[in-house]
Amino acid sequence: MTGLIPRPVHTAWAGGTGPRPRRVVGEGAETAARLLGLDTDGRGVAPDAGASGCVELRLDDRVGAGPEAYRLVSGTDGVTITAGGPAGLLHGVRTLAQLGEAPPLGEIRDAPRYAYRGGMLDVSRHFFDVPQVLCYIDLLAAYKFNHLHLHLSDDQGWRIAVGALPRLAEMGGADGHYSAADFRRIVAHAAAHHITVVPEIDLPGHTNAALTAYPDLAVPGESGHLPYTVQEVGLSRVDTGSERVFAFVDTVVRELAALTPGPLLHVGGDEALRIGAEDYARFMRRVGDIVRAHGKRPMAWDEAALAGPDTVDVVQVWRPRGHGGAAVEEAVLAAARGGARLVMSPADRVYLDMKYDGDTPLGTDWAARIGLPDAYDWDPAGYLPGIPDGAIVGVEAPLWTETLTTSAELQRMLLPRLPAVAEVAWSPQQDRDWDDFARRVAGHGRWWTGQGLAWTPVGEVAWDTAVS
Ligand code: ACM
Repeated sequence: MTGLIPRPVHTAWAGGTGPRPRRVVGEGAETAARLLGLDTDGRGVAPDAGASGCVELRLDDRVGAGPEAYRLVSGTDGVTITAGGPAGLLHGVRTLAQLGEAPPLGEIRDAPRYAYRGGMLDVSRHFFDVPQVLCYIDLLAAYKFNHLHLHLSDDQGWRIAVGALPRLAEMGGADGHYSAADFRRIVAHAAAHHITVVPEIDLPGHTNAALTAYPDLAVPGESGHLPYTVQEVGLSRVDTGSERVFAFVDTVVRELAALTPGPLLHVGGDEALRIGAEDYARFMRRVGDIVRAHGKRPMAWDEAALAGPDTVDVVQVWRPRGHGGAAVEEAVLAAARGGARLVMSPADRVYLDMKYDGDTPLGTDWAARIGLPDAYDWDPAGYLPGIPDGAIVGVEAPLWTETLTTSAELQRMLLPRLPAVAEVAWSPQQDRDWDDFARRVAGHGRWWTGQGLAWTPVGEVAWDTAVS
């Protein structure tokens, strides 16, 4: 048994262990069996659910606390997992997988603190192909995340084909992009793990790749855009007063909305440093309306709140406190009071591209160095004083890739910090304790190694890496 991460809400162990799980029956048995490495009869029925070593999966509305809640009972005959929805059943199976081959006798009742638990991958600065993204999804799913935010466009690359605007992929994504079929594969794999994909097109700054493909999106006289390889931000902009640009946004949003089953579409809005406040506000409000007109809910980085409290439905708070953002903080609070929902991604806690410490070879440290205790030991509800109760819908850990080019490099930044963020987003604040987490995460290194994943053996944890 490895330590359970994220920590369940309620556990009651009776002493002793149950039989090794041998087969799975019931709702979603095939997926569950695959995750547990077990046999299934393949028909999803329960002919002998009482047999020793059987894992039985049962949908039952009475479990309560929403579709992600589950109850796991481990007895001398086997394990029963009950949930109000398929996502809850899968969470229970994930927990059982962490309990190992001899599950302790007892009971777990569990449900997430936040409804939105996300990871963001920047596939623009460096491109990551479909198998690499699927591998990242598997890691998110193992720790009960339920949203994948893909940062699909930036100065350095445009990574999603848009049928009506072919030059975006040909020029803006020449070194890698997803076709519509690729994107559907990502969405389908995520959906199989009950993970919702949130695609992002970053506007009106961070747009050099689009300008390279379609120079007429630029402010007149600012043409001549070349493929971009430096890391500076805030240099590019589309012409926020041009109807051509709104027609472009409408086309992109229409196609992306049609490819995306989830409710959210992210429109960026960050670091538009060369655009005046009024032009920015007018532009972002109209972009928000375009997203709504195509049946999706607009989400954006926190500067979008400066454009007015109802510019977007979901505001992603990224600005670390004290980074010159007092006006943004006020605007975020006003948006939250006006009904916008907040996803907390403060750069000094959960930007997982930040270095762990001075010895970390990869990553950057403009916001902070984020050791494992820093990623773990904070409360999303306390980060910005004055946030109204219920305004925060969740937590997301972005992974920007200016310095990261391979899956192993991604994994070294994600592990062990991603599981820490998983617990921040899932487990009740009053039950979380750094020393307890450090003890529970110690056994996960062996599991990561067994999965072929790279990770960083940070010094704050007594890693249990002995070969069993
Ligand atoms: C951001 O880090 N510019 C959202």
